[in-house]
Amino acid sequence: MSITVEPVKPHIGGIVRVSPDHLLDDETIETVQRELETRGVLVFPQIDVSDQLQLAFTDRLGDRVNFTRQVPGSDAETPDVYKITLDRKLNAEPDYVLGTFFWHIDGITIDQPLPKATVLSARTLSASGGATEFANLYAAWDLLPEDEKREYEGLTVIHCVEAAVRPVHGHPSEERRARYKAMAAVMEQPLVWTHEDGRKSLLLGTHADGIVGMPGPHGRALLARLQQWAAQPDLVYTHKWQPGDLVIWNNQGLMHRVVPYTDEGRVMHRTTIAGKERPGRPARDANVERIYQVA
Ligand code: OGA
Ligand code: MN
Repeated sequence: MSITVEPVKPHIGGIVRVSPDHLLDDETIETVQRELETRGVLVFPQIDVSDQLQLAFTDRLGDRVNFTRQVPGSDAETPDVYKITLDRKLNAEPDYVLGTFFWHIDGITIDQPLPKATVLSARTLSASGGATEFANLYAAWDLLPEDEKREYEGLTVIHCVEAAVRPVHGHPSEERRARYKAMAAVMEQPLVWTHEDGRKSLLLGTHADGIVGMPGPHGRALLARLQQWAAQPDLVYTHKWQPGDLVIWNNQGLMHRVVPYTDEGRVMHRTTIAGKERPGRPARDANVERIYQVA
């Protein structure tokens, strides 16, 4: 065995021990694919990958997603490696990175199959803050009381970038709103997603802006309650980074956020693995109207 996985908490997290020389082995890839389903987030402590090795690992797990080309923070040499940093020299729009302070699922407001997994490696850490938190949305569904499950199944949720950046900007300028609009779609997603393998998870995050058919406050209140439920401590793993750590998470079954940091020196390199399943679709106008009414 060149790889071992040690669970962190009953509902989430795994520590993977494997040498970088074996990162691309069949055994590693099969283990990672399997454990992403059960553990949700996997940590490779101080494995210290280069961009090339991170991209090769990403490619072994599936197709690289290219939504990273549409947002600021990738450069010409390694266009599929997105720099997560507040440093304007590396990422021209750090405001977009500030959205990572709030619970989210990557790529959920883009009209494409939901990205399967995200890979993040620590290049330079912040002096304070900057731990990343992950919450298991499969477990959040599984542990709901049966009467609530019956109530929620079949509900549809509107997700948009405008909601994702509302806590960042409060009232974004018209110019900024137009830019965000061009980057993403308004999507409708099931609240309870039944994956092709039959497992169910909740789809939640700050980008969730209302529930179809409910007045705005009613939908948002339910979404806020569910987000709080899903973030209960037993379902959350907090990763306190060491230099060279690599983390991969199941983006289809987890939401994540980072503990706020101000240090412009923090730099993480992100790659993304495309998904095959499309739980949602672009929102129909009639479904969006009601969530912006108060009654
Ligand atoms: C991301 C993200 C969190 C972090 O890259 O998608 O949410 O810790 N990053 O930087
Ligand atoms: Mn993210």
